[in-house]
Amino acid sequence: MKSWVVSRYVDCREVLRDNDLFARDRRRVGAELPEFLQNIQTLDPPAQTPLKAVLTGALRAQNLDEAGARARGQISALLRELSARDEFDWITDVAAPVALTITSELFGVKQPDLGWYVKLSDVIARRMDSGLLPERAVAGDHARKSLGALVDSWYEDDPKPGVFSTIRETASQLDVPPHYVHNTTGVMFNASYGTLFATVSNVALALIRHPEALESLRGADRELLDTATDELIRFEGPAQGTSRVATRRTVLRGTVVEPGQIVLALMASANRDPDQFDRPDELVLDRQPNKHLSFGWGAHGCLGVAFGRIAVRELVLCLTQSPPLELAGTPVRRATATVRSLDSLPVAFRR
Ligand code: HEM
Repeated sequence: MKSWVVSRYVDCREVLRDNDLFARDRRRVGAELPEFLQNIQTLDPPAQTPLKAVLTGALRAQNLDEAGARARGQISALLRELSARDEFDWITDVAAPVALTITSELFGVKQPDLGWYVKLSDVIARRMDSGLLPERAVAGDHARKSLGALVDSWYEDDPKPGVFSTIRETASQLDVPPHYVHNTTGVMFNASYGTLFATVSNVALALIRHPEALESLRGADRELLDTATDELIRFEGPAQGTSRVATRRTVLRGTVVEPGQIVLALMASANRDPDQFDRPDELVLDRQPNKHLSFGWGAHGCLGVAFGRIAVRELVLCLTQSPPLELAGTPVRRATATVRSLDSLPVAFRR
């Protein structure tokens, strides 16, 4: 991958924290960035700062607890419906529809066609591996443009109150290039769908493999549910790593990194670093503190942390209120390096 790889917790956190030295925006080292790829994730401060303020403000303007309660209602209704079946696929029957419904409702936009969006988002996720498999870039760029067309369709609709209408309102008063806001809106929608899809998949499998954890969460109080949710996100987060580019010559753990060289921070590895986490390979449901890197860190850290935690907590709560899930076949991991998720997870409720 022609990259330096850091895997220790302190090193990953430092690379993500020091945006002056480790840039996201490759134009800072002379590379090109086409207009359709300019968004909150690819721009660094100061260009990124107003976009971050708009998105943060749009999320703060929502009643996230109400959104969480709605998510709980939807998940429990779906699980009740599925309990009539002998077996089902957690990925197509639960993770994808739940992630898309929750995200569309949060945004206040018409839900895109499920089959179409699942494929689109998968191609975007695969594009994240283009450092490893360059052939994935072309299809990924095409998918990004389709995501842009989806955002255009929201501008033509009359949106319900939600993240999208708040972004549209506040961004119109900002002095930033309109394509920054347009691209960022799509990126945020997909960041929510993609991470929730993967987390809902990974967490379910983790709880199937650790039935004792699910048992000890039945009837748990809110505090334990909260720490357990965060621990599941540490243990089985959706983002394995993220890359930055060195803007100056620097020395990292005795290794010289030249300007323009890529540094890959493996958050999933950092999350299992024994120097940071006691018993790193165990699910410790009441782990505190738990400063994991599953939501990233620094200038590009996740903006949806609060809602992400709520949505995953509601899923865990619904699972504690259902009969235990068990495997009805062999889970198949998705062949992606950056995103950790599953292609299929055949399950059944134990009767
Ligand atoms: C459990 C759920 C989630 C997890 C584990 C997660 C994880 C992450 C990670 C690791 C990053 C940083 C990637 C990097 O540095 O390359 C990130 C960024 C981001 N996330 Fe999340 N996310 C979650 C949910 C959400 C939700 C629900 C939203 C929106 C409602 C969201 C919006 C974003 C945005 C906009 C960014 C880009 C921030 C930037 O580059 O400045 N995320 N997320």
